[in-house]
Amino acid sequence: MCGIVGYQGRNEAFSILIDALKKLEYRGYDSAGIAIWHDKSIEIIRRKGKVDDLRKAASENKIKGTMGLAHTRWATHGIPSERNAHPHKAGDVVVVHNGIIENYMEIKEQLKKQGHRFTSDTDTEVIPHLINSYIEKGEGFIDAVRLAIRGLEGSYALGIMRQKERIMIAVKKESPLIVGVVDGESVFASDAPAIIDMTNKLIFLEDNDIVVFKDGGFRIMDIDGNEINRKVHTVNWTGAMAQKGGFKHFMLKEIYEQPRAITETLIGRVREEKAEVDLDELKLPDMKDIKKIWMVACGTSYHACLIGKYIFESSLRIPVETDIASEFRYREPIMGRHDMLILVSQSGETADTIAAMKEGKKNGVYTLSICNVLGSTLSRESDGVIFTHAGPEIGVASTKAFTTQITVLFMLMLHMGRFLGVLDKKTVREKIVELKKIPHKIQSILNDAQKIEEMARRFITYKNFLYLGRGINYPSMMEGALKLKEISYIHAEAYAAGEMKHGPIALIDENLPVFVLSPHDRTYQKTCSNIEEVFARRGKVMLITDIYDHEMSGRADSILVIPSTIYELQPLLSAVPLQLLAYNIANLLGTDVDQPRNLAKSVTVE
Ligand code: M6R
Repeated sequence: MCGIVGYQGRNEAFSILIDALKKLEYRGYDSAGIAIWHDKSIEIIRRKGKVDDLRKAASENKIKGTMGLAHTRWATHGIPSERNAHPHKAGDVVVVHNGIIENYMEIKEQLKKQGHRFTSDTDTEVIPHLINSYIEKGEGFIDAVRLAIRGLEGSYALGIMRQKERIMIAVKKESPLIVGVVDGESVFASDAPAIIDMTNKLIFLEDNDIVVFKDGGFRIMDIDGNEINRKVHTVNWTGAMAQKGGFKHFMLKEIYEQPRAITETLIGRVREEKAEVDLDELKLPDMKDIKKIWMVACGTSYHACLIGKYIFESSLRIPVETDIASEFRYREPIMGRHDMLILVSQSGETADTIAAMKEGKKNGVYTLSICNVLGSTLSRESDGVIFTHAGPEIGVASTKAFTTQITVLFMLMLHMGRFLGVLDKKTVREKIVELKKIPHKIQSILNDAQKIEEMARRFITYKNFLYLGRGINYPSMMEGALKLKEISYIHAEAYAAGEMKHGPIALIDENLPVFVLSPHDRTYQKTCSNIEEVFARRGKVMLITDIYDHEMSGRADSILVIPSTIYELQPLLSAVPLQLLAYNIANLLGTDVDQPRNLAKSVTVE
């Protein structure tokens, strides 16, 4: 989820590219780089840090030329550093890349045997080497690119140049790439905000499109070299609208990004044929005699831990203890040498979670972090780390970070299940098959978002909400209630459905909407009894389930049906309507959805 820009024309490329990169800064990044072509030579400058640092470094070098590529990197493979920043070069080929190359290790090993030397820890660096290897075998530039991308697995948007020719190539697969149509000049970018001030005529490339830019014009071809046409869209976006990809808020954009974010989390890690989850980055100690797992975090990440407890305990039968990070260390937890401490954090900078990790280390247990931000404190200082690869999350309310955290916890459970010999291959394969269906099922919920908006309209006048669920659905409802609270400022409380009769039932009347999450698992009938208790007190019920219930229709205020999945994966699907409900209620109330009052994206104080 980095940023790419390319320019070829009559003007100095440097300032055009830097200005375009500045417009992508809102996405979050850790390093930046630029490559400018001039008279068959290419000058590359890369810097860890901000685009302004790059601007300063490059202008000191007086970098000149009318064609170039630029990039902001948000680290996924290899820490944020100058050597890992893009562009990457091999021979006379220069590449900038967004996405993840799934089979980069295999390619790297093959190329190493042929004498290629690598200077970074990135997956990207294999791409210029691969293209260059075809050029060395006598292929032309365009054919070398076509041949190279045939060998790449994963997702990529690429900008490519070579020293010998004044040609620029852009390629796309599963990562966005846009060509801007400008007279006599060529521009392309990963995101519209980068180029929207230059043109509002945009071509949204499709997978496997290859664009060749030459002499201020361009042609598009497919992977076999056949010319193709793509529609030119005239958009009326402002710069700010373009940053949000046409969505009103970052939060909404991030909710819609979940199918892709989860796909990125899975890329290169789940192998259905072998019934394996490959978490190569993770160096687990010998855990054969593991006694207990601790899961500790704050806020939404804590809710992911609560869900993780159900995932691990139901499948592995290993006890899991969860805790809120700010409580954990002050209660002097009793940890044993054979325990493992999992810390979950989007930012990897949450002070309470870092303190919890230190507490674990003090007790001599193995600490494993699940983080989204590469290079973050938690990811660096814990003994092991698994990255969620959700891409930058800008909305303060966490959405795609949450669902990718659950995805990682589920993969870790499968990995440990095989490692400990608790799960057989057949079971793991069946669970992987279900896991791989999740992005598609989330997409189908998103396609029906209109229904959720209509539901939200009915609830905007209420001041209190009760959220009920049983088993794994209870922490899902805790997360749903937190989403509503933080962005709409409406009080919402989550309860285990069976616990309602022990107190909160006193609150129920026609003024308290009760949201119930109850897929048809083994507690469905029990939850229905709790719903009857609400009906008996004239409460309003909104039911989220996975099979339409005729019995409930006409009695419940509304019923939302979402796809079915296995028990442990249900939270990945339930999260989406709950996020959309909260979003729509807040949006209708007109609150500041992306930056709710009193909240910070990363809480670095205890
Ligand atoms: O970066 P972290 O995941 O460690 O952040 C933890 C919480 O601060 C965070 O989840 C917070 O609760 C969000 N505002 C939830 O939407």
